[in-house]
Amino acid sequence: MPETVQEKKKVIFSAIQPSGTITLGNYLGALRNWVKLQDDYNCIFAVADLHAITVRQDPKSFRQNILNAYALFLACGIDPEKSPFFIQSHVHTHAELAWILNCYTQFGELSRMTQFKDKSQKHADNVNAGLFTYPSLMAADILLYQADVVPVGVDQKQHLELTRNIAERFNGIYGNTFKIPEPYISQVGAKIMSLQDPAKKMSKSDENSNSWVAILDKPDVIMKKFKRAVTDSEAVVKVGEGKDGINNLIGIMSAVTGKTADEIAIEFEGKGYGDFKTAVGEAVVEEVRPIQERFNDYINNKDYLVEQYHKSAEFALKLSQRTLSKVMKKIGYVIP
Ligand code: TYM
Repeated sequence: MPETVQEKKKVIFSAIQPSGTITLGNYLGALRNWVKLQDDYNCIFAVADLHAITVRQDPKSFRQNILNAYALFLACGIDPEKSPFFIQSHVHTHAELAWILNCYTQFGELSRMTQFKDKSQKHADNVNAGLFTYPSLMAADILLYQADVVPVGVDQKQHLELTRNIAERFNGIYGNTFKIPEPYISQVGAKIMSLQDPAKKMSKSDENSNSWVAILDKPDVIMKKFKRAVTDSEAVVKVGEGKDGINNLIGIMSAVTGKTADEIAIEFEGKGYGDFKTAVGEAVVEEVRPIQERFNDYINNKDYLVEQYHKSAEFALKLSQRTLSKVMKKIGYVIP
């Protein structure tokens, strides 16, 4: 665990919600990049469990999902000794700064968030205030650590732009307080689409479980989902317009194997979609196999998990407290 954030390296912050299913989209769009960035940046990562209650959670499975997410990220290669990796609700500064930032975020800005519009349609019976103000909490997560860079998938870009606007507004009123963060969106894997409706992003909240692949899905389930993936009638393995399904499968194959779309097209020239889908499924199975093995080791080693999330939360609290105190002083609070 780093004693302090080293000056020379830039700071990265990112987080993922602990839903029951961490998908291939989360992995290729976010997690895998986090792992690669650990050596070149001072990385701080979190399981965003405060964010997760904007939709109703069953307490027993919620608790298990938080621990599963923690163990899974370690299995993917997050090293908490190098990159503090904590559970968001263990670090109280997040909720505190979120409240403050709510007062510097406009109703109109939040109303324009496409994720809010989508989710409030999907959960029409529970359009709660948390769902609406969720981006201020995400801004707090990032700004507390004075992050330079935030690795995310394409779907989080709008929230990041809002974060920058909030930070600039605050800095404009009180003078330089927050670092203005840049998004880091990888070229490959930044938007993995649904296997059943490739015009939509792959999402764990999709009711059709054939539309997403979970990192912890068994090999036969992964193969079945890829074999059922929706394609088109052209039967040519090549990126093209109106071929969203095949484009998505080529994107996944490319992200997993490191081959370019052109190399994949040459490799599968003259072969049908059936062969290609099988090959993509097999490549994904091979990618997740070692992760699944390590996951089983971590989830059965509760003491190690507890030790790591405690240490990381302590570190995060100390660091984030600096920003929170600075913010409170600037606003004019009496500091206890
Ligand atoms: P979440 O939990 O929905 O997703 C976590 C990360 O996975 C990326 N992602 C995808 N990438 C490619 N293709 C997909 N189909 C796909 N689906 C998801 C997301 O872009 C994200 O990077 N609000 C955030 C969590 C969060 C956060 C933060 C992120 C909370 N605080 C601070 C960055 C910084 C969320 O709900 O992500």
